[in-house]
Amino acid sequence: MTSTLPIRLPLDGEAASGSRNTQLPQFEGSAHAKAILFGEHAVVYGAPAIAVPIHELAAEARVDSAADGLRIESELFSGEAAAAPAKLQPIVTAIHAALAYSGAQNAAIRVQILSAIPHSRGLGSSAAVAAAVARAVTNWAGVQLTTAGLYDIVQQAERVAHGNPSGLDARAVTSDGAIRFDFGAVSPVRIGAPLSFVLADSGLAGSTAEAVGAVRVRREQNPQAMDRYMSHLAEIAEGAIEDLARGDRFAIGARMRDAHDMLQAIGVSSATLDGLVLAANEAGALGAKLTGGGLGGCIIALAHSADHAEQLGSALRDAGATRTWTATVPTA
Ligand code: PMV
Repeated sequence: MTSTLPIRLPLDGEAASGSRNTQLPQFEGSAHAKAILFGEHAVVYGAPAIAVPIHELAAEARVDSAADGLRIESELFSGEAAAAPAKLQPIVTAIHAALAYSGAQNAAIRVQILSAIPHSRGLGSSAAVAAAVARAVTNWAGVQLTTAGLYDIVQQAERVAHGNPSGLDARAVTSDGAIRFDFGAVSPVRIGAPLSFVLADSGLAGSTAEAVGAVRVRREQNPQAMDRYMSHLAEIAEGAIEDLARGDRFAIGARMRDAHDMLQAIGVSSATLDGLVLAANEAGALGAKLTGGGLGGCIIALAHSADHAEQLGSALRDAGATRTWTATVPTA
C-alpha cells in the first residue's frame, strides 16, 4: 500500500539504536477520520446514527522488523512501548492486540505513526490510529485481517481511550462510505449526490466521556424532556436516510439545523460551537451542527459545492475557528 499522506515520516533510524534497517521492507496501514452527521448521543439510547468518512484526514502506521523489543515512533513519544506515556496506551493496546491476532506476541518490531487527524475533536483520531496500526502490524505479519478482527482490535484500544465506546467510531473509520449504526450493527448509507462539507475546529478539546456523562445526569433529572429530545434526534436520523439517498441537500441541511437545536437542548453544545454554527449559517451553509460528543471539538457544515465549502471555511476561520477542513462525500 502506498502512503496517502502528504507528509513523509522521518527516516531517523539512528534514534532506534541500530534497530532500524533501511533494507528491510516496511508494511503500512492507514485509516481515515470520520464525522457524525446525525445521531450522536441519541445513539447511546438506541437511536440510529449516521457517520461519514473524512478521507481528507488520515492516520498512517508503518511497521518494520527490529533487532529486539517493541518500539514506537510518533509525534508524542518515541521509545520502547513499555515506557510509553498514558496518552499512548490505546496505541500500545492496539499493537499488542494486533500482534496477538497475528500469533506474533513476542515479535520485535518498530511501529511508526503519523496522523493528520486532530485528537479530542470528535473526528475519530484514536480509532483511526488503532485501525492503521492493526492494518500495518497484520500486513507485517502476513496475516489476513478480517473485518471482525479489525473491529475487535480497534475496540480494545477504544476501551482504553474512552471507557465504554459504542463502536460507532471503530466502524466509521474503517468504512469507505457513509454508514448507519444501530446498536453495533452497521449498514451502508446511499448517497444520491456528492456532498461538500466543511469541518471547523473550536480549538477546544471535547471529552466524549464527560459529555455522555453529563447527558446521563440530565436524563436522570429530567427524563420526560430528555426522552423527547432523544426521540426527535432519532426521527431526524431516520428521515435523513431518505434525504441522503435522494441527494436532497436542502433537506439534509434543514435536518442538520434541527439536530443542532436538539443537541443544544440536551446540553452538549457551547457558546463557541453555537457561534461557529451561526457563522456557517450566515455564510450560506445549507445547515450546520456540532459533530461528535460536543462541549468542544468541531462543527460540520453542509455547503452547496466544493467551492462554497472553501468559502465557508474562510468565513469560519474569520469567526474564530482555529482550523477548518473541507471534505467531499461522493455519490454511493
Ligand atoms: O466524540 P466522538 O466523535 O467520539 O462521538 C461520540 C458519539 C457519542 O454518541 C456521543 C458517544 C458514543 O459512544 O456513541
